[in-house]
Amino acid sequence: GLPERVTIYEVGPRDGLQNEKAIVPVDVKEEFVRRLVAAGLPVVEATSFVHPKWVPQLADAEELMTRLGPDGVALPVLVPNERGLDRALALGLRHVAIFGSATETFARRNLNRSLDEQFAMFEPVVTRALAAGVDVRAYVSMCFGDPWEGEVPIEQVVRVGKRLLDLGAGQLSLGDTIGVGTAGRVKALVAAFADADVPAERLALHFHDTYGQALANTLAGLEAGITTYDASAGGLGGCPYAESATGNLATEDLVWMLDGLGIEHGVDLASLAASSVWMAERLGRESPSAVVRALA
Ligand code: HMG
Ligand code: MG
Repeated sequence: GLPERVTIYEVGPRDGLQNEKAIVPVDVKEEFVRRLVAAGLPVVEATSFVHPKWVPQLADAEELMTRLGPDGVALPVLVPNERGLDRALALGLRHVAIFGSATETFARRNLNRSLDEQFAMFEPVVTRALAAGVDVRAYVSMCFGDPWEGEVPIEQVVRVGKRLLDLGAGQLSLGDTIGVGTAGRVKALVAAFADADVPAERLALHFHDTYGQALANTLAGLEAGITTYDASAGGLGGCPYAESATGNLATEDLVWMLDGLGIEHGVDLASLAASSVWMAERLGRESPSAVVRALA
């Protein structure tokens, strides 16, 4: 049967806002995160400690995290390397995420490293974070398809994912960065990880909704026993280094489906949708989420 309860891992402030053309003021980011926490989201990925030239949209990471203060709920941040970790540790942050690539091309484009070199960059990050008592999540991008390399072999995804877990990361989030995945492939991927001794409890699913498959893929994930889903409020999102990546699965679309299935999540849909409408007004365009538009 389906799980009774799932964890929604909100990524709107990071995955969403990293992809905005205009720079969103730090006041707006702060209020957005606070609204999402108030709506009951247990985890809100807030920003990235990456190179400010690579992602200028998140160059205010120190300012934002200082304003938000110690996490009442988990407010993870992306850190690609030791420099990023140093910045996060200097502020006393407790949750970080590294982000690897399943493909050679995206490793080079997103991290300026080869597929193999990325692990050497992450290794000291994970070791030092764990020694400091900081929780580490690992992403693996391009788990389904890659805009330059096409379909990505499942064995390659499992190999990269295992290596990230072997470094010591607690949870592995499987990213469909460009939203090309379909439900059958989700099942096959989760099964391949199980065959490689990675149980469903260690995995999270991170869908972008480019081809409108994110909810169907989520249902396949639920049937396969996965209990953590990444989503972004109002369906904000994309990746500046992946052509054709659009927004993540909208958190509201996810909540609507979970409510219908009777699966607990702890999020107040009305308050969440109001936050997304508020954010859409700040960005000057409507939310792409069907549920947000229907509720508005
Ligand atoms: P690099 O240019 O190779 O960096 O970039 P480097 O190690 O050669 O260092 C060069 C200079 O940058 C040095 O300064 C460093 O100090 C500085 P200098 O000594 O020359 O004055 N530097 C930094 N400064 C601040 N913060 C840092 C940092 N690191 C180095 N952390 C790097 C390598 C990884 C830094 C770069 O490629 C980068 O920042 N990439 C980030 C790309 C990114 O954020 N992409 C989006 C997130 S991934 C995503 O969206 C997918 C996901 O959602 C899942 C999915 O959908 O699949 C997670
Ligand atoms: Mg993403």
